[in-house]
Amino acid sequence: MSISKSPDQIDQLLIKAETGNNLKREEIIELLALPISYTPQLLEAADRVRKEQVGDEIFLRGIIEFSNTCERNCLYCGLRKSNANLSRYRMSEDEIIATANEIKKSGVPTVVLQSGEDSFFDTEMICRLIERIRRETDLVITLSIGEKSYADYKSFQQAGANRYLLKHETADAEIYKYLRPGCKWEDRLQSLKWIKGLGFETGTGNIVGLPGQTLETLADDLLVMKLLNADMLGIGPFIAHPDTPLAGIDHDDLEMTLRVLAVARLLTRNTNIPATTALGTLHPQGRLLALQAGANVVMPDFTPEIYKSRYDIYPGRTDAGSAVEIIHKLEKDFQSIGRTLQYSIGHRLVKTDHSILH
Ligand code: 5AD
Ligand code: SF4
Repeated sequence: MSISKSPDQIDQLLIKAETGNNLKREEIIELLALPISYTPQLLEAADRVRKEQVGDEIFLRGIIEFSNTCERNCLYCGLRKSNANLSRYRMSEDEIIATANEIKKSGVPTVVLQSGEDSFFDTEMICRLIERIRRETDLVITLSIGEKSYADYKSFQQAGANRYLLKHETADAEIYKYLRPGCKWEDRLQSLKWIKGLGFETGTGNIVGLPGQTLETLADDLLVMKLLNADMLGIGPFIAHPDTPLAGIDHDDLEMTLRVLAVARLLTRNTNIPATTALGTLHPQGRLLALQAGANVVMPDFTPEIYKSRYDIYPGRTDAGSAVEIIHKLEKDFQSIGRTLQYSIGHRLVKTDHSILH
């Protein structure tokens, strides 16, 4: 690993990664394990590849967290079913449509409908929402509502949804099973293949800093992103929630999260990578640092004020102020690092290759 690498070998590896040569698992591990003094070089290489592949524009996605009710019991998440301290909400159809209209009005071209796994919103309701949003706002629609059947994904697509986010969370099947009771890693992967195969722009991603995770696991996460040919990658640090079994076991994973994000950019080249809210929560400059380490997307939260703080996945999540105020504030920061906000749809630029899925 890094200890046995000479400075010349490290430089060669960094050049290999930057120039887009396929990296082997061992090489990904080496990049994640580089001595700390190499972090700037790694992040700067990813920043250059971001610039070359997807440009200086930052794409916006407006999120609506329409239900914090969840039937699952993931050990790391504040929305887990057993968390009795959380006051649950479900937005009404009209509230969701009104919020989508707010997004439209702000000029943000895409909406992300996000929720816990809440079967109250059945397939028919979700399809109706998609159809209404299409009809009334013409926003590009991304769903982030958890694992569903093939038939459901197909219905959502026929109703007009364009994108689907389903983070794989961790590529270690054992850790996955432990952290997500009743869930199986193979099912997650199957869902992702279905989603991709149906032609959705597909988002996946992981959490960095989960218990039991190693550099090998993180390298496998990155390989999953690559092999799935995912279009969007959400990479965020683990932040412990006090009302979960993992209370108090987090540590500051800023550095490793930025490394994983940087390697994701180097490996997948032209994907859309958000500067996640979790990074912004962990560190006041987290989002800006991510945008200088490979990220090119931000996802302002348009959930109405009365609900926002109850979407309590982990503590400290919410920025103060409305989404529009937050966008304006962020815009100044972005300008300071030579970046501009882009109010266009921001599809992945190159046609995706589905061949690995068949
Ligand atoms: N820390 C960081 N991210 C988390 N998520 C859930 N709980 C946590 C946590 N404690 C992320 C997961 C999930 C999304 C809803 O939020 O990746 O996909
Ligand atoms: Fe529910 Fe998703 Fe949280 Fe798991 S991670 S408890 S499925 S909201």
